[in-house]
Amino acid sequence: MQFDRQFDKILPLQDTHSNKWKKAKAVIGMDIEGAIPMWVADSDYPTASCVTDALRAAVDFGVFNYGMDRDGYAEAVRWWLETRHDWSIDPDWIVTTQGLGHAIALCIDVWTERGEGVAYFSPVYHEFRLKTERAGRTPVELPLALVDGRYELDLDAADAAITPETKVLLFCSPQNPSGRMWTADEIRQVADFAARHDLILVSDEVHCDLVFDGAKHIPTDVAAPEHRDRTITLFAASKTFNLAGLRIGQMIIPDADLRAKAAGRLTALNYDPTSLGVTGTMAAFSPAGNVWLGEQMVHLARNRDIFDTGINAIPGLHSMRLEATYLPWVDFSGTGMDADEIARRVMHEAKVGPAPGHWFGTGGEMHNRFNLAAPRSVIEDTVARLQAAFADLQ
Ligand SMILES: Cc1ncc(COP(=O)(O)O)c(C=O)c1O
Repeated sequence: MQFDRQFDKILPLQDTHSNKWKKAKAVIGMDIEGAIPMWVADSDYPTASCVTDALRAAVDFGVFNYGMDRDGYAEAVRWWLETRHDWSIDPDWIVTTQGLGHAIALCIDVWTERGEGVAYFSPVYHEFRLKTERAGRTPVELPLALVDGRYELDLDAADAAITPETKVLLFCSPQNPSGRMWTADEIRQVADFAARHDLILVSDEVHCDLVFDGAKHIPTDVAAPEHRDRTITLFAASKTFNLAGLRIGQMIIPDADLRAKAAGRLTALNYDPTSLGVTGTMAAFSPAGNVWLGEQMVHLARNRDIFDTGINAIPGLHSMRLEATYLPWVDFSGTGMDADEIARRVMHEAKVGPAPGHWFGTGGEMHNRFNLAAPRSVIEDTVARLQAAFADLQ
C-alpha cells in the first residue's frame, strides 16, 4: 500500500478553516474540545499526491489569469466516466458549476417556479430539502420502504405523492445516507417514474466512485438512455478526492435544450469555475488518481469493518452495511431511548458528532450518519467511545 500512512495520519484540522470543526457548535450544538466531529461529508486525510503536485505547480507558477477553457479538462472528465463507469459522453455535454450544491440549486432555479414541487426519495442528503425550501419551492418527500434492513423504492406511494405542480425529481445514486446502490432495473423504474409525471430527472451521482466490494455504479444515463431528454447527471471529484473546498462540479447534460438552459443561467449569473478547481479536477481524473482511489477504498473498507463490528456489538444499535459512500447510517431505535437521550449520549458523553438523522427526512428520525473518511485510529476511538456511552446496554 503506497499511500497507507497518508490515510492514517492525524492532521491538526481543529486549527484550520474546516466547517466540521469551526461550525460544530453552531450547527450541531457540540463543544468541539476533545470531540470527534463527523457531521460533514468530507475527509480528514489529504487528497492524492497527483492533485497536490498539480496544485503546487500552479501556485508556484503564480499566474491566475481569467480563463478556464483549458485543453484537457473536458477530456479528463470524459476519460474518467468512460474508464470507471463505462459511460461514453460527448465532452460538449459538460456544464461546469461551483460544486454540486450549486448544481442542485441551479436545477431547482431553472426548472421550477416559486411554489412548485421538488421531489426526492427520503431519507436523503438534507440539502435536497433545504435548497428546495430556500428557493421558495415545495419539498415533495417520497419515503423509501425499509425492507429486511435495506431501503427499497416504493413507487406506488411515490406516484400518489406527486402533484401536477411537481416539476423536478432529485435522485441520489448511490443514496446518501445508507450507501444504497441502485440496480439498472431500479434506475429504469425511477426514470420511467420521472417520465410518467413529466419531471426533470436530476441524478446526483457524486458518491459513485466510492463503492465497496468490487460493485459497479451504473450511471442513470447508461441504465435509461431513452430518458436522456429529461436527465441531468451531477458528478464531481469533490467527495472522491476531498476537493470540496475547490468548489467545482460537473453537470452532464446530453440534451441540447436542457444544456442551453443551464449554461445560459450560469452565463447570466456571470459564473466561471476557479482555475485551481480545474487544475485539481484534471489531476484527480487521471490514471494516478485512479490508483490512489483504489488505495483509499482499501482504507475505507477496513474502517467500515471496524465500525460495523464495533457498533453492531452494542445492543440496540445497527449500522446498515454500506454498499457505497463513506457515510454509515446507524439506527438507534433498538435502544428504546428517545432522540434527545441518544443525542446526549452520542454528542455529549461520547463526544462524537454525527449528522442527526432527522435532517435527512422521514425514516431518519432514530438514526445518526457517521463518517469513515478518517484515520483508522479515529474510527477505533469512535467505536470505543460509543461502546462506553451505551455500556449499560451491554
Ligand atoms: C449527494 C450529495 N450531493 C451534493 C453534495 C454537495 O457537493 P459539493 O461539495 O460539490 O457542493 C453532497 C455533499 O455531501 C452530497 O452528499
